[in-house]
Amino acid sequence: MNSINCPYPLISGKDNEVTLRSQFLKEKCRLTLIGDYHATLDDERGTPFKQYSARMAQWGHCDMQELEMLFNKAFQDGSDAIILLGDMLSFPTERGVETLAGMMKDSPIPVLFTAGNHDWHYEGMPGSDMQKRQEWISKRLLPLYGGHDPMNYAFELKGIKILMVDNSIYQLTPSQLAFCRKELSDGKPALVGCHIPLYLGLPYHTVVNYGCGNPGWNGANDPYFEIERRERWAEEGQSAETFAFCCEIQESENVLGIVAGHTHTYCLETFNNKFQLVVSSLRSATLTMFNN
Ligand SMILES: [Fe+2]
Repeated sequence: MNSINCPYPLISGKDNEVTLRSQFLKEKCRLTLIGDYHATLDDERGTPFKQYSARMAQWGHCDMQELEMLFNKAFQDGSDAIILLGDMLSFPTERGVETLAGMMKDSPIPVLFTAGNHDWHYEGMPGSDMQKRQEWISKRLLPLYGGHDPMNYAFELKGIKILMVDNSIYQLTPSQLAFCRKELSDGKPALVGCHIPLYLGLPYHTVVNYGCGNPGWNGANDPYFEIERRERWAEEGQSAETFAFCCEIQESENVLGIVAGHTHTYCLETFNNKFQLVVSSLRSATLTMFNN
């Protein structure tokens, strides 16, 4: 590919294949992005939890065959890593976690995972979302993180720092904001991976209702808390740290873009010479980043 010598990143997307060209990158890096697979794998160990999993067990994938095909395709297509963007499971069964962890371990390329709001959620169990996330990550999901901190970790690949940040309760904690600030302070090109897309808040944007950092997110506007049998969103809305995170990611000079899932619908938007790519639940997406 000839050099374009453009001082700004060039971002384009077609058919779930997104390309970024930037003079700030050292070499080509290709990622396969997968979100919202919603596996419902279970066995007799899940029987005591049926009252909490029955609704979500009606949909999604009852096996991992399609996901295995996507893993194989990623390797064959020359991807350098696979990024799993949450809700790979519809609820945290032991069989589901064991199967996915085994696939990740067997993959010839790195597989990074961050949780979605369903990965850790047994509907109707008591406790706040924050408590239940911590409880079920500890009890079940830990094998999916490869020893990394489930709340946030950085993975460097071909000169790009991939920041995996758990925003599966829509909000960020003060320690997650501090982590992001520290990791972004070295000026290395960075990509943010999280489950819930960021509210961009720009008037020309086609999607204005993304959940993380959305000023309209509050208890009065929570459409699903009864259906999902979870705590209602906070009356007062999201934390100051969540708004700070969204603003700083959008303004940080070294952030290349954001990759996310949750809505099940592909969407590519650009802002401030960056992008937000939201992946479809029906197929994987690729992100290929070139050094101009
Ligand atoms: Fe989700």
